Amino acid sequence: MRIRNTLCFGVFLCGLTPALARGQAAAELRDRPRDARGWPTQAVRAGHGMVATDEELGSEAGVEILKRGGNAVDAAVAVAFALAVVEPAAGNIGGGGFMLIRLANGKTSFLDYREVAPGKATRDMYIGKDGKLDEEASVIGYRSVAVPGTVAGLALALKSYGSMKLGDVIAPAIRLAEEGFPISERLAHEFEQERPALQRFAVSRRIFLNEGKMFHPRDTLLQPELATTLKRIARNGAAEFYRGETAHMLVDDMFRLGGLITLDDLAKYQPKVREVLRAKYENNGHAWEVLTSPPPSSGGVAVIEALNMLQSVPLKGWDDVESVHLVAEVMRRVFADRAAYLADPDYSNVPVAGLTDPCYAKEVFSTVDPQRASSSKTIKAGNPHTCGVAASNAPSPETLVSLGEGPHTTHFSVVDAAGNAVASTYTLNDSYGSHVTCSAGFLLNDEMDDFTTQPGVPNSLFGLVQSEANAIAPGHRPLSSMTPTILLRDGKLSFVTGSPGGPTIISATLLSILNWMRLGMEPQVAINAPRFHHQWVPDRILIERSFPDSLESALNARGHATHRVGHMGLVNAIAIDPASSDRLGAADPRHDGAAVGY
Ligand code: GLY
Repeated sequence: MRIRNTLCFGVFLCGLTPALARGQAAAELRDRPRDARGWPTQAVRAGHGMVATDEELGSEAGVEILKRGGNAVDAAVAVAFALAVVEPAAGNIGGGGFMLIRLANGKTSFLDYREVAPGKATRDMYIGKDGKLDEEASVIGYRSVAVPGTVAGLALALKSYGSMKLGDVIAPAIRLAEEGFPISERLAHEFEQERPALQRFAVSRRIFLNEGKMFHPRDTLLQPELATTLKRIARNGAAEFYRGETAHMLVDDMFRLGGLITLDDLAKYQPKVREVLRAKYENNGHAWEVLTSPPPSSGGVAVIEALNMLQSVPLKGWDDVESVHLVAEVMRRVFADRAAYLADPDYSNVPVAGLTDPCYAKEVFSTVDPQRASSSKTIKAGNPHTCGVAASNAPSPETLVSLGEGPHTTHFSVVDAAGNAVASTYTLNDSYGSHVTCSAGFLLNDEMDDFTTQPGVPNSLFGLVQSEANAIAPGHRPLSSMTPTILLRDGKLSFVTGSPGGPTIISATLLSILNWMRLGMEPQVAINAPRFHHQWVPDRILIERSFPDSLESALNARGHATHRVGHMGLVNAIAIDPASSDRLGAADPRHDGAAVGY
């Protein structure tokens, strides 16, 4: 159930040929040179604006807004609403996410519209009378749903940095929901794959399973209730979702069907504006700045800590065993720290300055053996500190517990003609979230599973480990791995990136940055490049199927356990050509993502 197409372990989905390109961008998407897998080998080039998402219709919605004079934030809000219609697995108005904005004038902002635990949530709410975890309750059904943040976050983004009205940017989504869109082979396959859970909920069954008759590729998916809800939001703003008719419909469902969310929870929900995390590097004669996600994302801290450790490492590429070994050892240590220290910063003292200090990175990196794999049994979280400041005490490993973090989410990137940029990752957590579609026609998240659902006991699919600080508590935000990131080169916009994939978000985003900033790859090549992931526990490197056997053997010879997976992450990135300033859109072919520019 929880293994999705961002991490396809078997042949499922991974072998599908790209769906026929639809819409205006079809010709360009078809005509690019491709490798033996059918993957494009060059980014889409455009002189003005670019949008890269998992779905061509989502990218086109953004370009439509850019062409009508909207800026990157207008387009990003349009994309987010459109993906809620055309990418139901992860696009959403019933979930939450992060948006990193960098305006052409240099101003930056990070919007946190992560979901929060309802007021009635309790630390042990998923533990039965027998003391055992109810493995299903935090991932499927009404009790897995946290208070959604997406609509509040998108409205805040538009009000703060957009130039258009909510009604204008929501229009493409309303059209797609009302008039419908052709179901791709991938989507039809996904509905079949998700059938067992979706069919348990009446509205999900009607909308996505065609009342059990199922859809075929090229059938039209109509979502009339969602269209009506989007129209109310267009008319009344975010207040509609949190206090209006939509709020009442959602809470009535919760009350009737066993969920926890109340009108009070919705009315209290607030998106937050947080300080962007920053780090500077010198590479290949250029000054780079990384702008990334602060807690409750664990990703930005992890990416900076990893880049700091790798700063003095001469990386050669991912066909070089030494480079893969060293990056995997860095990931191992970064995830040990993540486990110990990262949580909701409004309720926990997260040592961000220490963890992202180059001085600390040097100390941690000194424990890496350049030839041999460490054992995660002996690698523990460090004592993060800034140079010259005494270390604080690390928590004891015995207080660490597992995190069940869902693999599906979606990332999109937008750059407009003026050079404003948006990196946004948002999520329902698992594919199709809780699998519940509320009577207002939108899917609800299962983000409660990103909390530590069983304090003290390792319990998750991914075996991720983290601290008690991420325990369930009313109003708290669960720890996230989502890592929308923007790179500047010599002070100018250079790369916009991010990924879905649960904990592999961090590795996929890190690798995309290394590929662009350190290895100088062409942007599409940087996205296509094979990915790998180490998360400390379990002690093994996940490697994508495209890694050569010889590389796997060489890693094994150094003492690494390895495990093959189909695909990891879906990075939809935009690079800026430093010579021409063209926008280079590189969507991830692992999902037939689409970069559309003009
Ligand atoms: N639900 C995935 C994440 O936030 O990392």
